[in-house]
Formats: sequence, C-alpha cells, structure tokens
Amino acid sequence: MVASRLRAFGTTIFAEMTALAQEHGAINLAQGFPDFEGPAEVREAAVAALRAGDNQYARSRGRLELATAIAEQRRRDHGGSYDPESEVIVTNGATEALAAAFLGLFEAGDEVIVLEPFYDSYPAAAAMAGVTLRPLTLRFPEFRVETEALRQLVGPRTRGLLLNSPHNPTGRIFDEEELKAVRDLVLERDLTLITDEVYEHLWYERAFRSPAADDALRDRTLAISSAGKTFSFTGWKIGWAVGPAHLIDGVAAAHQFLTFSSATPLQLAVARALQDLGSSFYSELRRSYQRRRDILVQGLRRCGFELRHPEGSYFAMARFDGLHRGDDRAFARFMATEVGVAVIPPSPFYRSVPEEGHRLTRVAFCKLEETLEAAVGAMEERFLS
Ligand SMILES: Cc1ncc(COP(=O)(O)O)c(C=O)c1O
Repeated sequence: MVASRLRAFGTTIFAEMTALAQEHGAINLAQGFPDFEGPAEVREAAVAALRAGDNQYARSRGRLELATAIAEQRRRDHGGSYDPESEVIVTNGATEALAAAFLGLFEAGDEVIVLEPFYDSYPAAAAMAGVTLRPLTLRFPEFRVETEALRQLVGPRTRGLLLNSPHNPTGRIFDEEELKAVRDLVLERDLTLITDEVYEHLWYERAFRSPAADDALRDRTLAISSAGKTFSFTGWKIGWAVGPAHLIDGVAAAHQFLTFSSATPLQLAVARALQDLGSSFYSELRRSYQRRRDILVQGLRRCGFELRHPEGSYFAMARFDGLHRGDDRAFARFMATEVGVAVIPPSPFYRSVPEEGHRLTRVAFCKLEETLEAAVGAMEERFLS
C-alpha cells in the first residue's frame, strides 16, 4: 500500500534522466551532485579514521566530536546554542533526518504544511508516517510565500510546517516578510517548524540566516542540514538535526530503528571539516558557485529561457516557453536526446498543481565551469542558430 504510493511520487525521475543522459552522452545538469571533489584534507581525514580503526557503530545520536562541531558551527554561523549531547543528532543525510522527523514528531493523520515545488523525499517521508502534506504553491516567476494562501492551509489537524530555504528547486531564499508570515503562523497555531537548510552556505547576494536563530522559534524548531552540499561529498550521506531536546528525542526514537547510526569514519572527517575549514573556505565556496550560477543563468537567458535569478542553492528554474511546445517531461527528453544537456522536469515536485511545473525545467549548476560552458554552448547551438 505505502509502496504503491511511494512509487507514484515520481521519484524515479532522477534515474530516468540519468539513464537518458548516459545513453545519449548528454551533459548532466539533472541531478544535484558536483562533478568535482570536496576538500582533499577532509577526504584524507576519512582515510585516516578508517586506518586508525574507527570502524565500529557510532553512538546512535552521532560521535560527540561531530555533535560538538555541529553545535559550534550553529553558534558561529547562525547564533544560538545547542547542547551537543541532547540537542544534536547525526543522521544518514538530511533525507534520514527528514524521515525521522515525520515519523518521530507527528501522529498518523496530522497535517504538515510544505512549500511546493519540494525536495522529492518530503511526500514519501510523510506517506511513511501517515502524515498529510498541505502544499503552499510557489508560483513562477517570483516563487513567493503568500501570507493569505499560507494561512488558508491551516486546519484543526495541522501540526507542523516544513520550510526549505535556500530552496530546491527555485533557488529562493525567503525574505523578512515571508519569514514573518511563517513565524506568526507557527507561533499563533502552536506548530512545530522544521527547517531544511542543506544549502545553508550556498547564498549569493543576501546571507541566509536560520529561522531557528529567532528566540521565539528556537524551542519549536528542528533545523536540518547536511555535509553533502557544503563539502561536495553528497555520497557520504552525513546529515544532522539540531533543536530542543524534546524534538531531538522524537527524531532519535525513529533514527534508532531506521538506521541506528551513520558511518563512523565519515562522521569523524566531517567533524574535522567543520572544525578546521575557516571562513575563507566558505567565502570561496560561495564565490565559485556564484560564478557557476552566472555562467548558467546568462546562458539560459541568451537562449530565450525566462527565469528569476537564484538567490541561493545550486538550482535554477527556468521557463522554456517559445523554445518547445511540449510539457516539462517532453522538454527534458528533447534536451537530453537532441540538445545534449540533461535537466529535470519539475512537475513531480508539485503535489496540488503539477501543471505549474509543465512549462518549467530545473537545471543544476553544481558543476565545473567548463561543464557549464559546454552545456551553454550546446544550448546556444540549438536555440540560437
Ligand atoms: C532540499 C533538500 N533537502 C535534503 C536533501 C538531501 O540531503 P542529503 O543528501 O544529505 O540526504 C536534498 C538533496 O538534494 C535537498 O535538495
């Protein structure tokens, strides 16, 4: 029953597009993983931990070295203090933290508000927990959180709100006015706020600050992040959540039986990354992503796509009106097979209005500049000649 619903969520889209990209030798701007390595010293720290024999189960909530480094990083980057023993948990990627949050913090039948388009694990995690999602649609091109529409979603069974900022796939970082609408609603309706902050370091013109840093929200907010995007090791799947002890206890109860713990040597390497990489690492990360974003966005615009400038994350959502008459899936197939660039059709990331995604395409820019230049070149050849 749950399996058939999970299969219907369209999560096969990444596998489909990757297979198509491989078959046609297309440049892969579909799935969000870098085509470059993370910091060598972090990789070496993992090797050293393996060689030193740190190879047994970790403490279920994570090695204390890592939990301590996470608490310190939160204080440094967002403000607010978390106790490493009781207010931090390490998980298998942010994906597991999200699933454990749905399972551990809500009852079957509860409702949680999410922004759509969303990261595709949200509906699956909610379904596994029997939770109903109430999607707030972000509409092209501004993709704004509209206060009135948000308020209309709340009902007697609404228990939580899941906010992803910087946002996949729109590239939005929600502004003060939008955050105030979320904050007011969460406080008024006594909701649990879950923030998915996996792109917390990928902001460009305007800094991202976690909503959990707000004193009024701190004790009702579970903030989730991950090493994958920040350190370009998406395959390590080291994620975490911070929050008040009562929320971490709920997540820990589910995590104990989902996976129990995550890879010990990789936890130790991520602890080193958080401790040792200074502010120059993060500013260079942002500078390099901003260059990548600009190559892609300028190229897309030259080719005739319309899009709002991504403020954060490593995705752009562009409208292809005028370039192709099909829907987003047909367009993605056309891009992979005839243009030589793989992209993602975003309609599976909408629940209530998939048609909002029908004229849009999601393009990832977590790629080397030469990869992006080659992709832009292929698009220009097709669309401009
Ligand atoms: C918004 C969002 N949340 C969570 C994740 C998953 O993070 P992890 O790889 O750490 O599980 C992703 C990955 O693409 C994402 O885009």
